[in-house]
Amino acid sequence: MDIKMITFQEHGDDRGQLIALETQKEIPFDIKRVYYMYETGLNVRRGYHAHKSLKQVLICIHGSCKIHLDDGKENTEVILDKPNVGLYVDNLLWREIYDFSRGAVLMVLASEYYDEKDYIRDYRKFIEYTKMEKK
Ligand code: TYD
Repeated sequence: MDIKMITFQEHGDDRGQLIALETQKEIPFDIKRVYYMYETGLNVRRGYHAHKSLKQVLICIHGSCKIHLDDGKENTEVILDKPNVGLYVDNLLWREIYDFSRGAVLMVLASEYYDEKDYIRDYRKFIEYTKMEKK
């Protein structure tokens, strides 16, 4: 499965590091929403959905977590453990997020406002969607 990881430029000096993310530059879409998960329980697995059209970039800005991605044919696991690396998650990709380290903060940049109608929360429906897309 093709996975797109984006490495961000670090503006580091003797004070520390700084990363800047801009629409259509580091992030390949217009950023309409940012959300983040923190204080996630150690055995929590969340996500369990795909999006009809939403695109996202996931960045674990502190600690680590794992992302299971499934395009309906293949699946893979990605470890996010660097604040300067983002995972691009296209639409129609089933994702599950797990193995959050203690204190992990997962930040998500999203191409659209929150819209429950864009979610596919049923795995069998997701498979049907991926087949429809390919016709
Ligand atoms: P949820 O969809 O369960 O998270 P995930 O599936 O990614 O693990 O979201 C948890 C709650 O937060 C749910 O009540 C919806 C709300 N929420 C918003 O209000 N805005 C948002 O942008 C997101 C992602 C969630």
